[in-house]
Amino acid sequence: MLELRKENFFISNTFKISLVGIIFFLTFFHLYSLYIYPRHEVISQEILLGVVLTLLGYLWIQELRDRYRLQEIAQTLVRARQELERAEVNAITTLVLSEEAKDPYMRGHSKRVTRCAMEIAKEVGLDEDELKVIERAGLLHDLGKIGISDTILHKPDKLTPDEWIIIKKHPRRAVEILEPLSFLDKEKDLICHHHERFDGKGYPDGIKGEAIPLGSRILSVADSFDAMNSERAYRKPIPEEKIVQELKDVSGSQLDPAIVNNFLELLKRKPSLWERT
Ligand SMILES: [Fe+2]
Repeated sequence: MLELRKENFFISNTFKISLVGIIFFLTFFHLYSLYIYPRHEVISQEILLGVVLTLLGYLWIQELRDRYRLQEIAQTLVRARQELERAEVNAITTLVLSEEAKDPYMRGHSKRVTRCAMEIAKEVGLDEDELKVIERAGLLHDLGKIGISDTILHKPDKLTPDEWIIIKKHPRRAVEILEPLSFLDKEKDLICHHHERFDGKGYPDGIKGEAIPLGSRILSVADSFDAMNSERAYRKPIPEEKIVQELKDVSGSQLDPAIVNNFLELLKRKPSLWERT
């Protein structure tokens, strides 16, 4: 965190102006005395030059030191801001994970979705900054479910049309909750569209194809995979071959076919992605 140490304070502009004033005054006084007494030196030229150079040197060193301190403070502020952002995201993530932990069938869902989404994102060549956005969006993608009653969230039977209306509000609800955190604008966009379908029949906006942000299409594949790969109150985990087949079946309709292909290749290379812990 930023420490306001005594040596962090800068010399004031008034002090700098005073030094320039002294230099100016000495020079003016010397020239004026030469004008009045052309045969006598009131101040020797060597002494005057020495004093002026010393003062200028002092000013120059102070300027350099101030500039260095300013850079140091700017870097400290950036680090402090990043720490604050991390703390805010961690607090909200803890809230999401503790909500999930109430339901044995959903426990760890957001972490598993994030793990798969990150692997896919690396596979499609996203850079470090984009990976960070995917990671945060993955952990927070179901934040909007907080506040929805457990009887709807954990309902073992089919949801009624009214209950579906409530469930479908959760992507926008997450964006509303995150609204004050402007540093999460990219994450909000991915979260908002993680239930869009590639064919445009998803929600909340019904956008299709590449109009859906790439990160949302990645999250959608990871989310669907984890939903199938997890046990539910009303069914046992689906066998691996069936999940692979289901992913192929919905490729191009629900999910982005290119990302599904990437993910199926990943699953062959990294069987640990099947782990439910
Ligand atoms: Fe969701």
